[in-house]
Amino acid sequence: MASTDTLTPQDWTEVVSPPAELLAAVSALVPAGDGPLTTAQLVQLSADVAAREDLWRPLVVADTERRRYRLLYEDDRVDTWLIMWMPGQGTGYHDHAISAVGLVGVDGAVVEKQMRLPHGSSDVEVREGVTREGPAGYIHSVAHVEGSPAITIHSYSPPLMEVAQYRVDEHGVLRRETEHGRRELIDNTIAEIAPDIV
Ligand SMILES: [Fe+2]
Repeated sequence: MASTDTLTPQDWTEVVSPPAELLAAVSALVPAGDGPLTTAQLVQLSADVAAREDLWRPLVVADTERRRYRLLYEDDRVDTWLIMWMPGQGTGYHDHAISAVGLVGVDGAVVEKQMRLPHGSSDVEVREGVTREGPAGYIHSVAHVEGSPAITIHSYSPPLMEVAQYRVDEHGVLRRETEHGRRELIDNTIAEIAPDIV
């Protein structure tokens, strides 16, 4: 495992450059067909990739400074990511624009929340083998609960080219701000304003 001292900031070329052996192996797991994958197919792909631990385990790092992730596979229909969560690391509420998502817990645990307005939120602990899935427009937050690191594997279709974070202006008005899909999600505006629903 690489030293966390040498890995901040992330090497972006490395982050989005899966080893060739990994690309080939995951390619064989992608269901045949044209067009986007269904959420069920995305969950299955994430679980199938998780089962090939020999391929992704060497990429795992535990970084206390920032959430770490690695691209495991991409084509024009789908991309698959390895995400590693340490204590205090989370995404804040966000959506994945036009991409559907299917994810699986691998090591440790994260908590996934969805807003249930006007009060509260759902609260699902994602541990090994637990899956979550949602179509385009799915809004959630994910944060570390347990593990050093907690590990999850996520697949998106179409590939995750845009995400949106939710911010609140000085008048308390909620706004949606888009970002490139490969930008780290660190916004916690809603957590600061309404901690009981995050
Ligand atoms: Fe997400």
